Amino acid sequence: MADKGKKAGFATRAIHDGQEPEKLTGAVSVPIYATSTYAQDGLGEPRQGYEYARVTNPTRDRLETNLASLEGGVAAKVFASGMASINALYTTLKAGDHVVCSNNVYGGVPRLFNQILTKFGLEFDYVDPSDVKAFKKAIRKNTKWIHIETPTNPLMTLTDIAAVTEMAHKRDVQVVVDNTFMSPYFQKPISLGADMVMHSTTKFLNGHSDGLGGVLVCTTQEQADQLAFIQKSQGAIMSPFESWLILRGVKTLAVRMEKHNENGQAVAEFLADHKKVKKVYYPGLPSHPQHDLAKHQMTGFGSMITFESGSLNNAKKLLKRVQMCTLGESLGGVETLISHPATMTHAALGVEGRKEIGLTDGMVRISVGIENVEDIIRDLDQALSGM
Ligand SMILES: Cc1ncc(COP(=O)(O)O)c(C=O)c1O
Repeated sequence: MADKGKKAGFATRAIHDGQEPEKLTGAVSVPIYATSTYAQDGLGEPRQGYEYARVTNPTRDRLETNLASLEGGVAAKVFASGMASINALYTTLKAGDHVVCSNNVYGGVPRLFNQILTKFGLEFDYVDPSDVKAFKKAIRKNTKWIHIETPTNPLMTLTDIAAVTEMAHKRDVQVVVDNTFMSPYFQKPISLGADMVMHSTTKFLNGHSDGLGGVLVCTTQEQADQLAFIQKSQGAIMSPFESWLILRGVKTLAVRMEKHNENGQAVAEFLADHKKVKKVYYPGLPSHPQHDLAKHQMTGFGSMITFESGSLNNAKKLLKRVQMCTLGESLGGVETLISHPATMTHAALGVEGRKEIGLTDGMVRISVGIENVEDIIRDLDQALSGM
């Protein structure tokens, strides 16, 4: 429907693109095609190209159409998890190729790079995400991709997407942006020059903490063809049920993100004023060193907040005392989740790795949900009082 005349708005496309009523019955919810194979009309005559579910599935196709529309790409390819999608991208490379990555990304990313992909001859360097010159300096003749996550997990550092992509394109290097924290509602990396966008769909796109997934949104048909080949050959595809969960979740993405943003700002301001909190990392606060860049490159600040409790012991006490806020990994669900990056999401970096990027044992990360914000603040207040 969004293709008729003027391009429809974001919320409309989230609900309608790829989500058209099913032709046979008119079902308004995309059916879950729970099938491993498809009857063929004759030898070499598959119906509408469907042969085997590892290669294509109609529910998955619908989700890929939807996510490509929301990010402004030409196509999207979905995988079994965010990590499976990152792995898929880098297995399009060959031994001897080089990737420059931000030094602060989700902890599982350097684990994949350093402990697995280097064994196949890929090379990685890590640089300060806020420093365009550092990315430039790290580029070599064999550099193929720059991998950035903005804002970063968990330090909430921003990378200037337009500046990095402009610099990279002059050197024939492509840029992929992990847009998990912002969702396409608040940040559109392709419109800023990115060559590919990646998400852990497990987070805001799904929004309900009930399924794992990942997506790569492509800007060229060549990228999409390569990734379709990886889906078919490696097989780490998203299941029809998980695809459906995201199709359902994404219908409310616009309203959820507005509420996440409103609650995120209120919680960040509460924490910033609290005497027991040493420092708050949130791009929506004027105290964030890249607040101006955040206002320029994002249309909202989201609901991911990291704060400094002062010590591992303080963090432990606080996390023991929270009641409504749930201690757990992950983010982007409707419920407020609270976690300890040093021992949870970023444990794989090791003590030295965390020290290098300034990730302390006292840091606590919150994914602010869409509950009544006064209840979130009351819970945090009582938890902080016991620190
Ligand atoms: C920013 C970011 N990217 C990627 C991932 C990996 O995604 P998944 O857990 O779906 O494999 C995560 C997981 O927390 C994440 O936070």
